[in-house]
Amino acid sequence: MLDSSRLRNPELFKKIVDPEKAALLIEDGMNVGVSGFTPSGYPKKTTMALARAISAGKKCRINLWSGASVGPEIEEELAAVNGIKGRMPYYAYSNRSMKVGINKNEIEYLDQHLSHFAQHIDYGYFGDVDVAIVEAAAITENGDIVLGSGVGNTPMLVKHAKRIIVEVNTSIPLSYEGIHDLYVLPLPPGRREIPIYTPRDRVGSRYLECGLDRIDCIVESDIVDHVRNLTPPDATSEKIADNLVEFLEHEQRVGRLPQQLPPLQSGVGSIANAVLMGLEKSKFENLEMYTEIMQDSVFKLIKSGKFAFASGCAFTPSPAVMQMYNEDPDLYNKHMLLRPLDITNHPEIIRRMGLIAMNTPLEFDIYGHANSTHAMGSTMMNGIGGSGDFMRNGRLTIFSTESTAKGGLISRIVPMCTHVDHTEHDTMVFITEQGVADIRGLTPIKRARLIIEKCAHPDFRPLLTEYLERAEKKCPGHEPTDLEHAFDLQMKFVKTGSML
Ligand code: COA
Repeated sequence: MLDSSRLRNPELFKKIVDPEKAALLIEDGMNVGVSGFTPSGYPKKTTMALARAISAGKKCRINLWSGASVGPEIEEELAAVNGIKGRMPYYAYSNRSMKVGINKNEIEYLDQHLSHFAQHIDYGYFGDVDVAIVEAAAITENGDIVLGSGVGNTPMLVKHAKRIIVEVNTSIPLSYEGIHDLYVLPLPPGRREIPIYTPRDRVGSRYLECGLDRIDCIVESDIVDHVRNLTPPDATSEKIADNLVEFLEHEQRVGRLPQQLPPLQSGVGSIANAVLMGLEKSKFENLEMYTEIMQDSVFKLIKSGKFAFASGCAFTPSPAVMQMYNEDPDLYNKHMLLRPLDITNHPEIIRRMGLIAMNTPLEFDIYGHANSTHAMGSTMMNGIGGSGDFMRNGRLTIFSTESTAKGGLISRIVPMCTHVDHTEHDTMVFITEQGVADIRGLTPIKRARLIIEKCAHPDFRPLLTEYLERAEKKCPGHEPTDLEHAFDLQMKFVKTGSML
């Protein structure tokens, strides 16, 4: 039940409506921006009411804009009733109806670098934000918003929104108040340096500035974020983590990394989470993160004292880790902060801090191109997210993954990526459970030999070596590529796994 701890001005109580009434603000063809980032901090009640209205006959297909993928109460519910016309800037394959809609091209999906989206809204590239739906922990006396755990693009969406629905969610701990640092970049030519020099620096407001008059209505909610449990670390991900730690230690020994490591960035998914967790037993101390998303491992590493500070645009604690937070919120509040996505992923800050960026691709090829998004070149799995922002601008960038997928049937190291998100010009280091390929300064053929030797699974190494040797003979050149053979091999990898 909403009380004065959540609605801190009596006028706000007059704006409370049921979700069905709030959903009436949303009409066919509108651009609807929602708060949240991955399954955290996203509104739930209004979109579920909209989905029910569509099922009952309302004609309405919206363009859904957010920070990243959000939870099933939006993605799944609306996609399942054909309520989504367009989607930007990110989607994740875990929402099945969305995956189907996007891959059948029934939903128009535009995959974007996440650092770009807020400023592209600001530049007016995609039109108006007709309605913003924002999940909040509370609304202050003057109508400013205490956000939840997923900031994403919310400040920019609210800046441009014509109508604003706020879902005040009583399941969000009020202890989040103060953890945010919300800064909206001015448009050029008035834009100046962003004065963030360390992950702890604050430059903005603890509240999302909105104002009483701009809030059209308030919906009460108590639905908790739909955070999935990640696959726990196993022998393979632990080996990847060991390889990573050894590599970073080596970089320190040869003087390319300082004794105090620069801030880290870590990507999404089970492998990224497990790899980060592997730092627990390393000798590195006082680690800091300047990242996009903070998964379970970040909380655990803060608790153990390994991480001194972490900043990101969202955190997604699993239920067990949420309980850890609730038992000692002060500990985490002291060591974490949440910023908008265009600040966490901003190239200026990534370069200034000299981040060590670590992300997971679906596959990479022998010349060092990486595919983060499309399985077999066609099926969109997950968006590129912030991987391009960080891998293009980090001081040291590392792609880590298992050497195979689908239980060993598919090699993740391929002759030629079926889709390229990160080119050979951007990649530096690849790590699998087999080893480390550091391709900095290497020409294409040297890169290819090293990647096959160090990263490919032994079951696939002979095929990849044979491919390279044939390509060198048949198609000699700076980067020998035998299109026909590359295609045959790729099909063989996928269809049969018969070489195992
Ligand atoms: N070909 C086909 N399918 C593949 C594949 C390949 N080369 N590699 C992985 N997959 C499949 C897996 O089998 C799995 O599917 P399933 O669940 O149906 O079995 C799925 O893709 C996810 O792979 P997995 O390695 O288990 O997951 P993960 O949780 O470690 O996530 C990514 C890996 C690539 C999906 C994830 O890191 C991602 O979204 N990356 C791109 C965006 C990004 O880097 N964001 C970070 C920004 S800061």
